[in-house]
Amino acid sequence: MTERTLILVKPDGVQRGLSGEILRRIEAKGYTLVAVELRQATPELLEQHYAEHVGKPFYEPLVEFMLSGPTLAVVAEGERVIEGFRSLAGATDPTTAAPGTIRGDLGRQWPTKVLQNLVHGSDSEESAAREISIWFPGLA
Ligand code: RTP
Ligand code: MG
Repeated sequence: MTERTLILVKPDGVQRGLSGEILRRIEAKGYTLVAVELRQATPELLEQHYAEHVGKPFYEPLVEFMLSGPTLAVVAEGERVIEGFRSLAGATDPTTAAPGTIRGDLGRQWPTKVLQNLVHGSDSEESAAREISIWFPGLA
């Protein structure tokens, strides 16, 4: 099967009306959308999704931010899509993310407790499989 990745347009991206622009960039790059669903996250779902960050100083603010509004959950497909979407997204810190990337073009620092950086993308084949099964159990 062709590689798949889990992408999230985080609540800041949805609230700012950037869902369409972000989907446009994924499609313009040539990847195929397999699933797209607007969802309200729950603390339980986020604890699974962000298992690697539980206990870190930014975990509680991160969860609060991710619960602040709906998230657009996306599964995209294509050869090397995991690496390709991380490249489209840009660096974690939106202030210094390269222009041309989603975070570099559309993101910035705000006076919030946690970095708001518009998107999430799985960072390995293992994470992609795990995250797709969390957000879209029917696809796993
Ligand atoms: P993501 O998982 O969301 O795709 O982002 P990432 O791999 O680039 O970053 P990661 O290290 O996995 O962190 C997950 C999310 O937590 C927030 N964060 N804030 N120091 C901070 O304020 C801080 N560090 C991380 C960001 O929203 C980041 O995307
Ligand atoms: Mg990450």
